[in-house]
Amino acid sequence: MSLQTAQALVTDDLAVVEQQMLKKVGGAYPPLAEVLAALIQSGGKRVRPMLVLLAARFHPPRQHSRLISLAAAVEALHTATLVHDDVIDGAFLRRGQSTLNAVWTPDSTIMAGDFFFSRAAALVAETENPRIISRFAETLDTIVDGELRQAFTARDWSQAKEGYYTRIYGKTAALFELATQTAAILGAAPAEEEEALRSYGNNLGMAFQIVDDILDFVADDTTLGKPAGSDLRAGIITLPVYYYIQKPERRDALMALADGGPSSDEAVAEVVAMIRSSDAIAEARAEAESFVQQAIADLAILPPAPHRDALEDIARYVVEREF
Ligand code: IPE
Ligand code: IPE
Ligand code: MG
Ligand code: MG
Repeated sequence: MSLQTAQALVTDDLAVVEQQMLKKVGGAYPPLAEVLAALIQSGGKRVRPMLVLLAARFHPPRQHSRLISLAAAVEALHTATLVHDDVIDGAFLRRGQSTLNAVWTPDSTIMAGDFFFSRAAALVAETENPRIISRFAETLDTIVDGELRQAFTARDWSQAKEGYYTRIYGKTAALFELATQTAAILGAAPAEEEEALRSYGNNLGMAFQIVDDILDFVADDTTLGKPAGSDLRAGIITLPVYYYIQKPERRDALMALADGGPSSDEAVAEVVAMIRSSDAIAEARAEAESFVQQAIADLAILPPAPHRDALEDIARYVVEREF
């Protein structure tokens, strides 16, 4: 399963979304405008704007330009969080290219991210829909909450699984949920359809982040276009790690490697290899699959249509993807 069929339904709109994002950063201080344009054009899978565009097909809004602004706002918010995330993670590779923080100081990179957040706000304002604008603001709160919880629970080897769910809802699923729900709001979809699309986005986002966390163990930098093994290095207890350390002897082995967690490159590589070849990967994958099944079930109340099939395809793609 690839994204191609879903993408084909919205190719033209996706190109306009990219233009809209580019237009929004064009007025910035030239060095900033230049790097932001490069970032927008560095691609990415564009899953979130695709979700906005497809979810809106059930009840297309009267003004199509507002839908474009909404999709651009969602992708701009995502991109802004990536700029900050790479500073937080000290990551120098993203989408197969050098990150901004690999060439700029962290201070300047943070400000570039801030500028992108403000562009996202400007784009969402173009929807002229107060509920959508409020949902955006709430979502940014939730993302920050998720990131802070992640920072403060690093290397807490005895944490419960619920904490992981709260964090990945915050850092990832909240934005997926926003994408599909606000598309429904913009087209004034009936409440039960809005709820179905919101829940679909939520379940899909949970699966998406679990798979991202699995890929951090099973994929390599080149395929991912970003540094593999980075979560463990930062001491983040993702689902594969959680399952791995449920056996006390494995937890002790992991903690014994260095100061309550692996720190040197060799130690990280060793633990990544141990987790990769353990049953923890399959256990985490089964959870991602169950979220995907829930996401597909959420779509059942919506009328059958090519865009509904496309949303199902995206759900299946999420657990099969390799980057
Ligand atoms: C990366 O998101 C951040 C996560 C939520 C895991 P994507 O995997 O959608 O990144 P791009 O936009 O395709 O690069
Ligand atoms: C990123 O999660 C989530 C946000 C950007 C808010 P990750 O830290 O797992 O994303 P990658 O793996 O760097 O893309
Ligand atoms: Mg990261
Ligand atoms: Mg990740």
